Amino acid sequence: MCGIVGYTGRANAAPILLDGLKKLEYRGYDSAGVAVINDKKLFVSKTAGRISALCEKTDNGENLPGFTGIGHTRWATHGAPTDINAHPHTSNDGKFAVVHNGIIENYMSLKEELVKKGYEFESQTDTEVIVHLLEMYYTGDVKIALLKTAARLSGSYALGVICSDYSEKVFAVREASPLIIGLGVGENYFASDVTALVQHTKNVIYMDDGDFAEITPDDVKIFDFAGKPKNKPVNRIEWDIRAAEKDGYDHFMLKEIMEQPRAVRDTLSPRIKDDRVCFDEINLTDEDINKINRIVITACGSAYYAGCAGKYTLEKLTGIPVITELASELRYSQPLIDDRTLVIVLSQSGETADTIAAMKECKKRGAKVLSVVNVVGSTVAKLADYVIYTWAGPEIAVATTKGYTTQVTVLYLLALYIADRSGRITPSDYAETLASIQKIPQLIRQALSMNSAIPTLAKKYHIHNSMFFIGRNTDYAVALEGALKMKEISYIHAEAYAAGELKHGTIALIDDYQPVVALCCNKAIMEKTISNIIEVKARGAQVLALAEKDSSKIVTIADDIIFMPEMDDYLAAPVEIVPLQLLAYYMAKENGCDIDKPKNLAKSVTVE
Ligand code: G6P
Repeated sequence: MCGIVGYTGRANAAPILLDGLKKLEYRGYDSAGVAVINDKKLFVSKTAGRISALCEKTDNGENLPGFTGIGHTRWATHGAPTDINAHPHTSNDGKFAVVHNGIIENYMSLKEELVKKGYEFESQTDTEVIVHLLEMYYTGDVKIALLKTAARLSGSYALGVICSDYSEKVFAVREASPLIIGLGVGENYFASDVTALVQHTKNVIYMDDGDFAEITPDDVKIFDFAGKPKNKPVNRIEWDIRAAEKDGYDHFMLKEIMEQPRAVRDTLSPRIKDDRVCFDEINLTDEDINKINRIVITACGSAYYAGCAGKYTLEKLTGIPVITELASELRYSQPLIDDRTLVIVLSQSGETADTIAAMKECKKRGAKVLSVVNVVGSTVAKLADYVIYTWAGPEIAVATTKGYTTQVTVLYLLALYIADRSGRITPSDYAETLASIQKIPQLIRQALSMNSAIPTLAKKYHIHNSMFFIGRNTDYAVALEGALKMKEISYIHAEAYAAGELKHGTIALIDDYQPVVALCCNKAIMEKTISNIIEVKARGAQVLALAEKDSSKIVTIADDIIFMPEMDDYLAAPVEIVPLQLLAYYMAKENGCDIDKPKNLAKSVTVE
């Protein structure tokens, strides 16, 4: 969580920093601040609230002149979101300002030590120890002070530092939190994410853990934590600024929902050549594939639910048992994982702390880790043995949509790929399945256009404060994600239930007008779900069903129906989720919620 930016060049830094922070606001948005150097002095402005409040306070940066500076947007961990706890934090001598994304785990003992030495703390943050350590170790060389400081810190940190003795330098350090350097002409930048850089430059350097950068307007020097210079490649960002803008939509979420046919197509097409699935990017040998006796999928949030949806298809096509496990659980669970396990890690951001910890645990146990990631150069991508990128493009809305659909689609392709490589699928089934997968972008487009009634349904259902989502099998997997979308952005309590489990408890909560969203797209078990619909209807529930167009039986039972195009039961999730995304979106709109930045959430969850 938290976003950091830095700039040094020949333009006024503050407006550029504020602009960058706006692009990073999805990372955290409870308070923000900037610091600049002017006339060898530091000037800091920070405030609780959104970046817009900081823009107001600084007159869009105009009242903070200076060519070098750093900025921060916060998702509070240590200390409430107040003006004082907002970053940047400054040293007692007023020479240093620091912005930080991550958590300093040993900050209490460091704080004790620093307090004893006479340093005064003003905030409740873990970050403040960093700036006092810098002051303590500084004897005229920031690099030495920073490296000594880094050696004292445990935990995760991406740091941006300025020192009033160096009017033309920003310093950046990375340890287990994302950090990217942007290379301009006569100006250079750093940021937590390329979205803050892409309007200025497409040339970037991805920092690795243990990298330290000294950045001036005309030069970037990178060192390791021992102070040894490092040569790092310059990468080119492929997408342009429009990808990170709303493009006429009211919200990023709606734009990203609408982009899904494109995102899925872009993810599929480079991997299908001459009617074959080819993952040129992964060098899994036949021996590697034949050795796999278990697949473990691990992830957090919607990425985990993408794994739940993919599990059915992987098991059906490959015949290999698949276990899905939340990353936050797996990491502490003594998992039964060894060198015959293929671990699949799903992550849109590639920076989720629990996901990273889980993958490290799996690697320690000898498993090969294949990651499915949306952000190029992210930590998950770097740590994995094999990487498959989802080409969804930048996802800005906190609640994921195209991240989820592209992840599920990759799992479908992977299922087919493994089934084929291990000789578990006939040529005709292979061809048929691949043809069905290729239809997904078109089916998503159809699902988007078939549902013009959703805003009206949202008007009917948004008044309720609780909803159930039911389904069986693949429908249940989609129900999990549908319910998560609903609670994340509309704040309506939503719970997904395996339809067959209702009678074991939840049915006690069904009474008059209780909304139940019933997913009936899996034709093989539709009759069973219909029985459950009848049970809840008998107890007064209002049922909003999701079913394929010619499911005439459901039309007579459900109160409302969202029609779906005809789909393969095992390849339906990326299509079936679309109306549920739209339903959550329009319900949130009816409820006047801040759709792109729901309360208390952040997109990139870099804390445990
Ligand atoms: C947060 C986001 C979710 C996302 C989850 C996992 O909770 O709001 O949209 O699914 O993190 O993130 P990842 O980047 O690992 O997919």
